[in-house]
Amino acid sequence: MAKNILLVHGSPRKGGNSDMLADEFERGAKEAGHNVTRIDVGRAKIGGCMACEYCFSHEGECCQKDDMQQFYPLLHEADIIVYATPMYFYNFPAQLRAFQDRMFCGIAKPFGITQTALLFCFEDKDATRADPAVASFQVASEYCKQEVLGTVVVNNVYEKGAIAGNPGLEEAYNLGRSIQ
Ligand SMILES: Cc1cc2nc3c(=O)[nH]c(=O)nc-3n(C[C@H](O)[C@H](O)[C@H](O)COP(=O)(O)O)c2cc1C
Repeated sequence: MAKNILLVHGSPRKGGNSDMLADEFERGAKEAGHNVTRIDVGRAKIGGCMACEYCFSHEGECCQKDDMQQFYPLLHEADIIVYATPMYFYNFPAQLRAFQDRMFCGIAKPFGITQTALLFCFEDKDATRADPAVASFQVASEYCKQEVLGTVVVNNVYEKGAIAGNPGLEEAYNLGRSIQ
């Protein structure tokens, strides 16, 4: 059965390495018959969660009227959420972290997302430097009761397009193609 996949791109850099990972994932997922909606949070204006709990008394509505408002309906339609993002400061970019924190509203009005995946790229020559960020993603996914379908991690890519020819692109395609 076709699933609704929300593909969340975390980089402000258009046509960059994580964008190319997202392209390949999307190609595979569409070939497998799924609906893919892609959003660019790297260029969105999203404030951090204020912990005001307004959403608890307003049926999951967030009081901050910023770019996140256009993403909430998509989160409610999604079966699967996939993050395609670069590493910033050995974590995810602040824009993507704000997006994730703002999903706090999902406690008040739950999303129906049951599966997730991560496509992650970064400059460091030591691939293990991604381990803490990937572990954080896995723990958060477990807390959200989202099954992790896969993680594609590509290191040693800095400049825009450096990922061209990297086996990680095929991994991203295969991950999308494998979704049932
Ligand atoms: C603000 C900023 C912070 C970064 N921090 C890291 C880092 O902590 N570790 C690392 O290996 N690469 C770091 N990088 C490099 C990016 O992860 C790398 O260039 C990545 O391929 C960019 O992906 P993109 O083309 O999708 O934007 C950083 C880049 C920027 C612009």
